[in-house]
Amino acid sequence: MDKINVLYSEEEIKKRVEELALELYQKYGEDEVVFVCTLKGAVFFACDLLKRYPGDARLEFLRVSSYEGESSTGKINLKLPLDAKKINGKHVIIVEDIVDTGYTLEFINKYIADMHPESLISCSLLDKKERRVVEIDPTYAGFVIEDLFVVGYGLDYDQKYRNLPYIGVVVKE
Ligand code: IMP
Repeated sequence: MDKINVLYSEEEIKKRVEELALELYQKYGEDEVVFVCTLKGAVFFACDLLKRYPGDARLEFLRVSSYEGESSTGKINLKLPLDAKKINGKHVIIVEDIVDTGYTLEFINKYIADMHPESLISCSLLDKKERRVVEIDPTYAGFVIEDLFVVGYGLDYDQKYRNLPYIGVVVKE
C-alpha cells in the first residue's frame, strides 16, 4: 500500500461529524428530514451523521459519477436515481463527501429541486473551495481543505482507500 499522510484523524472526523449533526438538528428540530447520501463517497459520512442526528430522519441514496482517476470529467452521469415520491414536500439534505469543481453538487441540487422538496440544503464533509468552477457552496461543510487529492473515510482513488478510517493524502514516490 502507498504511504498516506493523515490530514484528519478518526477522532477529529468523529468530533466534527457530531457537531454537524447537532447543528442540523438545531435547524430542523422535530421536523422530519430526508438525508440523501451520494454514493459511494459519502456513505461513511452519511451513516455517522445519521447515527449522531437526534431527530426524525430518513435515508435515501443517489449515485452519480464524474470522476476518472484524479480529475473530474465535468460530465455528470446519474447511475442510481431517486424516487421523487420520497422527496416531494420533504425537508431534504444532500449529503456529499467533497465539493471540488461544484459540477456534481450543482447537478444534484437541480435534480432534487425539480422534485419539489419543502426545503433543500447540502452538507459536505469536505470543501475544496479554491478548486470551484461553478458558483455553488455546500450549506454546511465539515472541513475546508486546500487543493489536495484526499482519500479515506469513503473517498477513493480509482476505487481504492475508501476503507481508511481517517482522511489522508497519498504520498507519491
Ligand atoms: P466535483 O463535481 O468536481 O465537485 O466533484 C465532486 C466529486 O468528485 C466528489 O463527490 C468525489 O467523488 C470526487 N472528488 C473530488 N475531489 C476528490 C478528492 O480529493 N478525493 C476523492 N474524490 C474526490
